[in-house]
Amino acid sequence: MGLVRTLIDYDQDFVEPALPQELRELYDGDLHFVTSPAERPFVIANFVSTLDGVVSYEIEGQAGGSTISGADPADRFIMGLLRASADAVIVGARTVHAVSPKSLWIPEYTYPAGKHLFMEYRVNVLHKPEYPFLVVVSGSGRLELERAIFRTPEARTVVITTSAGRDELTKAGAAKLGSVQIHAVAASGGSIAPLVILRLLNLQFGIRMLLHEGGPTLFGQFLAAEAVDELFMTLSPQIAGRMADAIRPGLVQGVEFMPDYAPWLQLLSVKQRAEHLYLRYRRAESVPRCH
Ligand SMILES: NC(=O)c1ccc[n+]([C@@H]2O[C@H](COP(=O)([O-])OP(=O)(O)OC[C@H]3O[C@@H](n4cnc5c(N)ncnc54)[C@H](OP(=O)(O)O)[C@@H]3O)[C@@H](O)[C@H]2O)c1
Repeated sequence: MGLVRTLIDYDQDFVEPALPQELRELYDGDLHFVTSPAERPFVIANFVSTLDGVVSYEIEGQAGGSTISGADPADRFIMGLLRASADAVIVGARTVHAVSPKSLWIPEYTYPAGKHLFMEYRVNVLHKPEYPFLVVVSGSGRLELERAIFRTPEARTVVITTSAGRDELTKAGAAKLGSVQIHAVAASGGSIAPLVILRLLNLQFGIRMLLHEGGPTLFGQFLAAEAVDELFMTLSPQIAGRMADAIRPGLVQGVEFMPDYAPWLQLLSVKQRAEHLYLRYRRAESVPRCH
């Protein structure tokens, strides 16, 4: 019995199934990804948003995506499935700060009931290691090293930072943590270019499939760099509202596009469970024409 119902699926040009049968049943369909461009990993992103486009209430203890989704099981399942599909998951430092210190960006953390199915898919079908590794982007290097992401040997974490950030992390004792690697790269004004991150992940770690889990600041930069290939977006049937000073972020923060250059997306699939919708888009190569 499916967790979601497929309403639209334009992604059916494949002969061989990609997902094992039980996952195909839960997802009510298959999930294929095209091969990544040679010079960088294929980048998919996953967000949940209210109907009015808010992705975080920015309230302590209620800033995360599960407040937006209402802890929706199908949203959590899809998140687990995407993590299971990826070589690595990337997040910005503020997204790390917003969640419980116990959080891990591994498939079963978000959907424990799928643990064995995700593992079978990863290891036996995709031939990937047990867990994707986590990439944290932080210019400042100010990260709480007591978090589970830095203390769980089987779930590796790579921090991509500046040289000042590396010094900060070294001072805090990061070099002693066996499952953590710190990489300082060139930055301009503390900001590391997405393509520098992607090249490092490709060349140094062999990452071909990267899952971007936000937040809106890091995601906006990837979008502006034309480094997002697909977006999985859960639309949650609630309305958060915003004050004029707009503390609650939308999908993209800190970047704005002019109409002539704003990215357009092409719909790949729509799934549904009760009042929630699960949308999958691919980056459109051209602006859609109005008929
Ligand atoms: N609804 C959803 O699906 C969803 C998904 C993800 C996140 N969220 C929410 O979104 C909020 C966090 O998003 P956010 O936009 O505020 O922050 P974010 O993108 O998660 O993190 C921003 C931080 O990441 C580092 N960073 C980002 N780009 C960088 C670059 N190019 N070079 C170097 N460092 C860079 C900086 O860290 P330093 O300050 O350490 O330098 C920056 O302050 C949280 O409330 C979270 O729960 C919601």
